[in-house]
Amino acid sequence: MEFSLKIQAINGFKDILPNSVGRWQLIEQRARAIFERFGLQEIRMPILEKTELFVRSIGEATDVVEKEMYSFADKGITMRPEATASIMRAFIEHGLHVQQPVQRLYTIGPMFRHERPQKGRLRQFHQLDAEIIGAVEPRIDAELIAMGQMLLDELGLTVSLELNSLGCPECRPPFKTALVAFLERSIDGLCDDCKRRTHTNPLRVLDCKKPTCRTLVQAAPSMLEALCPACDHHFREVQEALQALEIPFRLNRFMVRGLDYYTRTTFEFLTTDLGAQAAVGAGGRYDGLIESLGGPALSGIGFAMGMERIALLLEQQTGTQQDDAGMDIFLAALGSNTLAPCSLLAHLLRKEGIRAAIDYSGRSLKAQLKQAGRVGARFTLIVGDAEWAQQEGILRNMRTQEQQPFALTGTPEQQCRNLRQRLATTTD
Ligand code: HAM
Repeated sequence: MEFSLKIQAINGFKDILPNSVGRWQLIEQRARAIFERFGLQEIRMPILEKTELFVRSIGEATDVVEKEMYSFADKGITMRPEATASIMRAFIEHGLHVQQPVQRLYTIGPMFRHERPQKGRLRQFHQLDAEIIGAVEPRIDAELIAMGQMLLDELGLTVSLELNSLGCPECRPPFKTALVAFLERSIDGLCDDCKRRTHTNPLRVLDCKKPTCRTLVQAAPSMLEALCPACDHHFREVQEALQALEIPFRLNRFMVRGLDYYTRTTFEFLTTDLGAQAAVGAGGRYDGLIESLGGPALSGIGFAMGMERIALLLEQQTGTQQDDAGMDIFLAALGSNTLAPCSLLAHLLRKEGIRAAIDYSGRSLKAQLKQAGRVGARFTLIVGDAEWAQQEGILRNMRTQEQQPFALTGTPEQQCRNLRQRLATTTD
């Protein structure tokens, strides 16, 4: 049998290697801490859901549902392309609103979309997703947006915030009719995709990236001028609430989101540092969604941030590499008699929460010191047969290379305590 062919990961699916995992953990820790400051609780859902859930929530005529879902057609199930629909399904299924009228939830995990992979765009990617369900007040919109901004600020990232309103089932249909009439008049100037979208999903024409379409839509009717009085009032109050929280933003009437469930407020956190992938995070209100999935008539608002994009930005904008992932101590057991006591010492140190590494190969001191350097050890305890007979080892500070004798007297537990104390009191 031939085993020599290497098997590689699928295009658009990426490993997160140990040297960048520290950055991912940092993002996740900051996100959890901030979400919890705002009273959000974690929820975890399965990755597979019934396809119907996404068709009904995200919308049949969207790119995600039309082209990007990983579905098992014979089984009627799909790997989630986003988290909001799943959270709403779980929320309804478990009657979460009965326990608490306003639910604040977050989830962190992988999502799947069959897009064309490029920098910051993958087929398996990860989102930090936050939702506030059951509250209609415009100040909630501002609070949620402020939470997203706080997370990006605390990570040290520079982004800009854009805001729009997509209206509601009362004011959007007449706007759509006016927009379609405008697009039909200009149809020859539109790209092929937008010619098709004019009838399937006309709002998407507004955020086409092709220069000809962009120029053409400058003269299109504006949703912001077509809002009904209730949506207009809501949107003004959101803007005032954001100003009160000192969150800068820019209105962008061409921002339409790629998912159909949005109503009223929508927003995006944008960067110019990731090429074509400008959105680090995005979200909005979805006031009719829960009802359309068979739940109570409750409104909601949320956002999701792309963790790959945050990780890239962290590297680019702040130069953040991995966290300190090094070991506290490396035990270099050099003689045949020292292996057993040193391995017990390593075990006891680990039980006490110390990051301890040990080499069982009996290699030379030089090789073991090299290994200690590779694992990022702060200290190395060198114990040869001769030292062991004298109940002594040598403690080497790996940064300064300074070496001092270290007494290995008493029981293994006492040795462990002494060593722990020494590590805690020595600054390197
Ligand atoms: P979305 O705009 O589709 O919204 O995605 C949110 C974020 O996920 C994007 O801004 C981007 O950072 C990241 N993202 C999306 N697709 C990819 C990809 N292929 N590769 C890497 N990152 C990606 C939603 O998913 C909504 N569920 C957000 C939401 C929550 N709205 C209300 N609640």
